[in-house]
Amino acid sequence: MALQNDEQTRVLLNSQAHILNQAYSFVKSMSLKCAIELEIPDIINRHGAPMSLSELVDALYVSKERSQHVYRLMSFLVHTGFFVTQSLSSTTSVDGEEKEGYMLTPVSQLLLKEESFNIAPLFLVFLDPIMMDPWQNMSKWFRNENDINPFQTTHGKMAYELAVTEPKLNQSINEGMASDGRLVASVILKHCKSIFEGLDSVVDVGGGTGTFARCIAEAFPNLSYINFDLPQVVNGLEGSKNLSFVGGDMFEAIPKAQAILFKWVLHNWSDEECIGILKRCKEAIPTKENGGKVIIIEMVVNESGNKTLETQLLFDMFELTLATGRQRSEKDWAKLFHDACFSDYKLYPVLGLRSVIEVYP
Ligand SMILES: C[S@@+](CC[C@H](N)C(=O)[O-])C[C@H]1O[C@@H](n2cnc3c(N)ncnc32)[C@H](O)[C@@H]1O
Repeated sequence: MALQNDEQTRVLLNSQAHILNQAYSFVKSMSLKCAIELEIPDIINRHGAPMSLSELVDALYVSKERSQHVYRLMSFLVHTGFFVTQSLSSTTSVDGEEKEGYMLTPVSQLLLKEESFNIAPLFLVFLDPIMMDPWQNMSKWFRNENDINPFQTTHGKMAYELAVTEPKLNQSINEGMASDGRLVASVILKHCKSIFEGLDSVVDVGGGTGTFARCIAEAFPNLSYINFDLPQVVNGLEGSKNLSFVGGDMFEAIPKAQAILFKWVLHNWSDEECIGILKRCKEAIPTKENGGKVIIIEMVVNESGNKTLETQLLFDMFELTLATGRQRSEKDWAKLFHDACFSDYKLYPVLGLRSVIEVYP
């Protein structure tokens, strides 16, 4: 292709740069994974002051020859917002030559083991090789009529089926999901506590190992709370005075309660499957006049074209690879509620990427 003019050259080079940037987009997540595995955020946090490169290299127990590569990793993670550099005071400057030290940012604070909102376990589940391998088979899956999703093309089973026979996968999914529960519960209790006020019973369907459940049950001691999930998830878990763990399959039966809650569950399932689940909920709750409702915590895809949309679309692609579900816009949710014979809903956009939706029978 002959280049006609400067504008064409500019477009061509920008396009090439864009493609090369996309080719290495995974470097962002993989570099962060490496830093978490090396415990870099915890090491810098324990240091308690800007940490020089040589102090970091010593604390990592890697050889001095690796030092320039630690520098490259840290420079990239400074660029992507996980660390910042700050001048070392002359008293802390180690050999008089190093002028800057690494500090945490609000983002890397969320990756600390001691932080109650630590989200590292969830981040690591998304990047587990079992979850990553299906991406290599996405085009194969598009051309294949039989498999439900690329995860099945790769592993021969759906993710929750594989978790039954792979205890390590089951444990990392459960720990990953649990690491999200405390932050979500704290925000809800601060910004829309009224959702639970006046309720006498709640069933948290697909509640995982119950981190979210424990926070809500503790905040509402008169609320009887059931955390319902597959037997492999809840077997052996101990409840409290007002919290119990029940094993079962939501496609077979859902325990009766005044409200039924789904936190980050329905995006895993297709519209047809969700309509079936929601109809089963309608049979398990009382009328709207008697306080019956379904509470859903999920993404509501916001098409206004900002950073939130990009993350929501990334999660939609994740669903395409691993489940039968998708991320939904408000219009999609409204149609789902209508098709499942619910009368109305109320949206609380209080959770950043996600919202709380109250759905009334
Ligand atoms: C994405 S996780 C969400 C877990 C939890 N609600 C949270 O937000 O941390 C989906 C949950 O649905 C559960 N699940 C999947 N299939 C289920 C079924 N048929 N019946 C009940 N729970 C199911 C999974 O075991 C898992 O705990």
